[in-house]
Amino acid sequence: MLALSHVDAGYGETTVLRDVSLVVPVGSVVSLLGPNGAGKTTVLRVASGVLHPASGRLLLDGDDVTGVAPHQLVARGVCHIPEGRGIFRSLTVRENLLTQAPSTPPADALARAVEAFPILGERLSQTAGTLSGGQQQMLALARAYTTDARVVLLDEVSMGLAPLVVDEIFSFVERLAAAGRSLLLVEQYVTRALAISDFVYLLNKGRMAFAGEPGELDEEAVFQGYVGASV
Ligand SMILES: Nc1ncnc2c1ncn2[C@@H]1O[C@H](COP(=O)(O)OP(=O)(O)O)[C@@H](O)[C@H]1O
Ligand SMILES: [Mg+2]
Repeated sequence: MLALSHVDAGYGETTVLRDVSLVVPVGSVVSLLGPNGAGKTTVLRVASGVLHPASGRLLLDGDDVTGVAPHQLVARGVCHIPEGRGIFRSLTVRENLLTQAPSTPPADALARAVEAFPILGERLSQTAGTLSGGQQQMLALARAYTTDARVVLLDEVSMGLAPLVVDEIFSFVERLAAAGRSLLLVEQYVTRALAISDFVYLLNKGRMAFAGEPGELDEEAVFQGYVGASV
């Protein structure tokens, strides 16, 4: 289980998150919705230890891990797929996959990545920066599968991709969930995200505006400008 408890966090003098609490139970899919600038990315940064809270706590499996460095949280099974494409553009696909999963035997890391995204298997020697946008995102996402990450934080991983690629990305996310990984999902495709979610949180201006099950959420209200997202 990963949890934020009464977290305030921000950048320099600016407080972005105020009294934010959120729980990602083991094996569950949790969606975090909210308009642009609400603080969703900031929540994921706190959850991965990239940003430490000014007050409140970060908990992992019941342990207080507030202030623990990101690489230590990685070692404890937290995997953050950040906004944009988190890959090394000048390295090959193979080199990226091996760098992503340093503690997985190389053959296993490559096999798992190719199992998840067969196209990567045809591109192992290609420089990552020359892949299509969708393939770059698949390469970034592979890390969630090549490592033994138990909690995966996904920040708008379908952003800017063609519809068929978005389908493939969602299939992969469902596959991660089916494999028992806990997921914290920030997505612009609200309906699709909710369809695979056990719980949903709605963030507005850095505060939690709703927490519950997707069925309890008034989707109409979400779409009517509150999230401003596409279906
Ligand atoms: N590195 C940063 N430095 C200063 N302010 C930031 C930084 N990143 C985000 N912010 C501000 O924090 C607020 C929340 O941003 P963010 O967490 O990216 O929201 P969201 O992901 O919901 O769009 C915004 O007002 C944004 O301008
Ligand atoms: Mg964001």
